[in-house]
This record gives sequence, structure tokens and C-alpha cells, in this order.
Amino acid sequence: MALKTPAEVNAMRPAGKFIASVLSSLREVAREGMTLKDLDRHAHQMIDAAGAHSVYLGYHPSFGAMPYPGVLCTSVNDAALHGLPSDYVLQDGDVLSIDFAAQLQGWVADSALTFQIGTTTPEATKLVETTERALAAGIAAAKPGGRMGDVSEAIGKIGRAGGYGINADFGGHGVGRTMHEDPHVPNLGRARTGLKLNPGLVIAIEPWFMAGGDGYVIDPDGWTIRTADGSIAAHAEHTVAITRDGPVVLTARD
Ligand code: MF3
Ligand code: CO
Repeated sequence: MALKTPAEVNAMRPAGKFIASVLSSLREVAREGMTLKDLDRHAHQMIDAAGAHSVYLGYHPSFGAMPYPGVLCTSVNDAALHGLPSDYVLQDGDVLSIDFAAQLQGWVADSALTFQIGTTTPEATKLVETTERALAAGIAAAKPGGRMGDVSEAIGKIGRAGGYGINADFGGHGVGRTMHEDPHVPNLGRARTGLKLNPGLVIAIEPWFMAGGDGYVIDPDGWTIRTADGSIAAHAEHTVAITRDGPVVLTARD
């Protein structure tokens, strides 16, 4: 497990701030009538303007059918994760998750948020708020001296209390020079078990909950993870550094 020095954690701050600024900007511009590709283009322009690098474009992990074709994941309604930025036109009431990671000054940060386009529904509002609460609880549990299971249990408890579907096939991960590093950060687990959390560990914590059951299906596009029952899903993510003074959220938005 590569631990970062305090100086390295500080060097990751610009990447975290950049990711936060792009997600804030996307949230501001996203509206009914825009396509997912429009959002991807907006993010790509911000990447270029900042001298950053996309870590999504061309990325080809085992869970994707082909090299990734965008700089964002844009997951709408029953799409939970890895939604491709397509020509889909956003509709009033859509539940949109945007996941964004990039490298700036040699370091990566990774973050995601979910919000509704135009008209909100109580069902989606509760799902999004519960996912954000799970993220906050996971972050609060990411204390030096604790265990990874503390983070996982904190997340899973809140999702289950909300009655939501949780699938542990995808979760959080270490972050550093690259996007996906060890360790794995599961969204279900038992407190006081698993990896010891030491200062210098930097992880993406990313609960994603489904309004229905625990199952998912992979879309014919080879990337998009959808709920098996067609229910809506939400995803929230921050890159968090565990320091001697506790967790520091590198991707915090104002
Ligand atoms: N950033 C996502 C995560 O939170 C992964 C995106 S995979 C990609 O781990 F291929 F779309 F880039
Ligand atoms: Co991530």
C-alpha cells in the first residue's frame, strides 16, 4: 500500500480543487435539452484550460468492453455507474450522476455527485440525500488507527437503513498518481475488520445506492451499469486523505 507523505498529500490538493470546480460547473450548466456529450465537451474544455489530463479517455479496465470514449461518466436514472456520454438529451426530472477524475500536476483526484434536472421528486431527493449521508459517514470513519471495515460498515448501514439496494462489486479505491490503486474500499463490511487506516492513505470513498434491489446489469454499450429492476440509482464520491489530524476531503466543493 503506497502511503503518501504530508508533502505529497499537499501536492494532491490542486487536483482535488480542480475536480471540485469542474463538478460544480457541470451542476450549474446541466439542464433539460442538453446532451450528455455537451457535458463531456464542457468538462474537456476545462481540462484543456487547466493543463490537466483525462484519466478516463482511452481507459480500458477489465470491467469495460472497449477503451472509454469520454472524460466523464454520465449516468441517468436507472444507470448507476459508468454511463457513457452519449447523444441522450436530458429531460426534466432526470436523475443525473456525474463521475469525474483527472490528473493535474502529476496527481489524480476522483469525485462524483448526483442531482436532478429541473423538477425534483421526493423519491430521488431521498435517495440522493441518503447517498450523500453515507459518503459523509464513510469519510468520518476514515480516521487514522481505524480499519477499512469502519468505512464500509458506516456506508452500508445508512444504505440499508434507507431500504436501498447495494452491490459490492464496485466500490472505492486508492488514488494517487493513477486513478485506481489499492486498496479496495467496499460499500458493505464490518467495523474493526480489514486494512488498518494509516496516515498517508488516500482513498476514493464512493457509495452508490439503488432505489430497488441489489442487482445490476451491464448495458449493451458494454460500459453502463444499470439497476436490474429499472429503479433509479445515485452515486456520491470524494477523494479523501487520511492524515494524523483525521480525514481531509481533497475534492470538497464550496
Ligand atoms: N471514476 C470512476 C470511479 O469512481 C471510474 C470511472 S472508469 C472510466 O472509480 F473508465 F469510466 F473511466
Ligand atoms: Co472512484
